[in-house]
Amino acid sequence: MAAKKKAAKKKKPAFRFKPMPRGAKPASAKQLRDGCPRKLLDPIEIASRDEIVALQTKRLKWTLAHAYRNVPLYRRKFDAAGVHPSDFKRLEDIAKFPFTTKADLRDAYPFGMFAVPREDCVRVHASSGTTGKPTVVGYTRRDIDDWAKLVARSIRAAGGLPGDLLHVAYGYGLFTGGLGAHYGGEKLGCTVIPMSGGQTEKQVQLILDFKPQLIMVTPSYMLAIADEFERQGHDPRDSSLLVGIHGAEPWTDQMRKEIEARFGMDAVDIYGLSEVMGPGVANECVETKDGPTIWEDHFLPEIVDPVTTVPLADGQRGELVFTTLTKEALPVIRYRTRDLTELLPGTARSMRRMGRIAGRSDDMMIVRGVNVFPTQIEELILKQPALSPHYALELRREGRLDTLDILVEPKPERAGDAAVLDAAAAALVQAVKAYIGVTAGVKIAQVGQVARSIGKAKRVFDLRPKD
Ligand code: DLL
Repeated sequence: MAAKKKAAKKKKPAFRFKPMPRGAKPASAKQLRDGCPRKLLDPIEIASRDEIVALQTKRLKWTLAHAYRNVPLYRRKFDAAGVHPSDFKRLEDIAKFPFTTKADLRDAYPFGMFAVPREDCVRVHASSGTTGKPTVVGYTRRDIDDWAKLVARSIRAAGGLPGDLLHVAYGYGLFTGGLGAHYGGEKLGCTVIPMSGGQTEKQVQLILDFKPQLIMVTPSYMLAIADEFERQGHDPRDSSLLVGIHGAEPWTDQMRKEIEARFGMDAVDIYGLSEVMGPGVANECVETKDGPTIWEDHFLPEIVDPVTTVPLADGQRGELVFTTLTKEALPVIRYRTRDLTELLPGTARSMRRMGRIAGRSDDMMIVRGVNVFPTQIEELILKQPALSPHYALELRREGRLDTLDILVEPKPERAGDAAVLDAAAAALVQAVKAYIGVTAGVKIAQVGQVARSIGKAKRVFDLRPKD
């Protein structure tokens, strides 16, 4: 009996508290420059391409069989296309399988595409869906755990470490941003501040009082927080923030520079979508800031021509398509994201990167026959030193012709300088004509006139009559 007791005592405790690698000290400039210490990376992040491909192939075999066996829609679609999971031998074989679209998910509302009994799901989220019903996504306990691990990996790639304070200002609720960031932060070992979106005055107060090193928030709302710092008489550069992890909406490198300059911190890109998981499908590494690394051990990316759906080679721009490799509750096969980008070779990690999202094919405006993305205009606005990143785009129809007006606020310190603003407006008109090929009107708004978002910014207001 005594011997037994002794043996039991010797047994390793189930949970051992690991001391933080660098205590509660904020990330040093050197650590951010060098990126995450190699010893903290998941081995697969720096595995060889062969190892990654072997893992993807194995996992994809499982996913195809799982989806076919358990989701009537996939069974119907595979059968109609004359393919069977057993036809999948190598990664290239994925091209034989049919695509999945948002309409498929909507038609299956609410739970028709779940591949496990509803009782095995521990959580659902739903995408906002501006028209009609939202799309509902479900997660098993293992899905939630995988998601948390990938967001933890993302925060680490951004330069965050266990022990950091993480302020989460993505919305909590059906949107995946808040809870996705939250669970990832906890998994990494951060102290998470679940602030959610809104209450901008309080955001500033908590940042000043709690002194977080990390913040996760949409880029447009980060700027609204910067404005609120200044309104309260504080310089955002004096804040404790060292890294911002921004995504959920398209943004440009110019916007990155603006955020970094205003807060004196690093700003990195996080990408994701609810149908595939939520935030953390891909994340930029702070040491390279050259586009989000796709966590290819869990997602297989493809780029296809958005019109013909023919697969395109790495480096070519087209529509991003994802197949999940590990998801139990809601596996998606060749999900068409509508996001336009390209696949790029790995740099800081062995896994491939994606270029910045130029925009969703749905956000593309067609103005007098020319395709225009809001991000193209954002880039040109931010080249004008007197103009701010607060802008809206208004489309109208005059007679038979479409018109595009750019409503943009000046930088507050330039607001009274009519001559400078006239020159900036004229320069912007010229740049839009020269670089994008459309004639746009530019209206300089009052400071504060352009509505601030507390989540994803709405940039385009289409006031054209619906025909
Ligand atoms: O926005 C998930 C998310 C939350 C990502 C927080 C990052 C941070 P949905 O609401 O389903 O999910 O919207 C997904 O948002 O298809 C893109 O069009 C856009 N999007 C997401 N991240 C980025 C990004 C979340 N980094 C849709 N750059 C996607 C550009 C992005 N667009």
